[in-house]
Amino acid sequence: MIIKEKVKKNFSRGAKTYDEYAKVQRHMAFVLESFIDGSDKKLNILEVGSGTGIFTEYLLEKFPHSEIHLIDISEEMLDYTREKFKSYKNIEYFLGDAEDCNFTKKYDLIVSNASFQWFNDLEKSIKNLKNQLADGGQLVFSIFAQGTYKELRDSFNEVDQEYDFSQKFRSQKEISAYDQDLELLDDEVYYESYKDIFSFLKSIKSIGANSAKNQQKVLTYGKLKSIEEVYMSRYSRDGNLVVTNHLLYFKLKKTTH
Ligand SMILES: C[S@@+](CC[C@H](N)C(=O)[O-])C[C@H]1O[C@@H](n2cnc3c(N)ncnc32)[C@H](O)[C@@H]1O
Repeated sequence: MIIKEKVKKNFSRGAKTYDEYAKVQRHMAFVLESFIDGSDKKLNILEVGSGTGIFTEYLLEKFPHSEIHLIDISEEMLDYTREKFKSYKNIEYFLGDAEDCNFTKKYDLIVSNASFQWFNDLEKSIKNLKNQLADGGQLVFSIFAQGTYKELRDSFNEVDQEYDFSQKFRSQKEISAYDQDLELLDDEVYYESYKDIFSFLKSIKSIGANSAKNQQKVLTYGKLKSIEEVYMSRYSRDGNLVVTNHLLYFKLKKTTH
């Protein structure tokens, strides 16, 4: 179970360093935007978990005359984005948990980049968001999936089997089963490398993506060193740690019946 207060706190802490460290999320935004056709029309667009606005920049370019609503659970993230886009008059900002939100508007496009892995009940959220689509509207999103950080998980488990460090990474099969109209657009494995476990964990923390679960045990330096030893012996290349990110891209089109 993901604790929302922790998600808020972690992402709020990461707001100022996010852009510097969010390499994978930036890549996901780049891929995700390739699946969306722009328009000069005045559309209604919602972005869920907009963070520092990495994906919003694409929306502003592709849909210059649209009304764009951004929702994020972290106030600092929203503040950061508000400042970044202060010259734009077509953005509205909403602070809240998108899993537990009564949207009143219908949207032509709902997007979310790299945020849905933080949702506890993604199936319900996808159904809710589908309800908020105007006829012919689309939900397009990217998500971190099962297999992400698998080397870290294995190394942790070798040293401390009780440690459960991360957000929920669902499988493609699991997500596809949430709604019959979900279409898989791309399935990608993206590797990163870090010089040691400390720089890897620092980068996770700097974007606010550290654990949001309850009763997390304190990790001692000694334990981290043992985890790093396992990691290095099994998953290193040219002296660096290899990190797997499994990325999925989906689309759901609301058809008129
Ligand atoms: C990894 S960041 C992605 C940010 C941005 N979409 C990007 O492409 O860089 C995840 C974002 O989702 C937000 N978030 C997490 N859970 C949320 C929820 N339940 N409702 C709204 N926003 C949420 C976080 O505050 C954070 O800004």
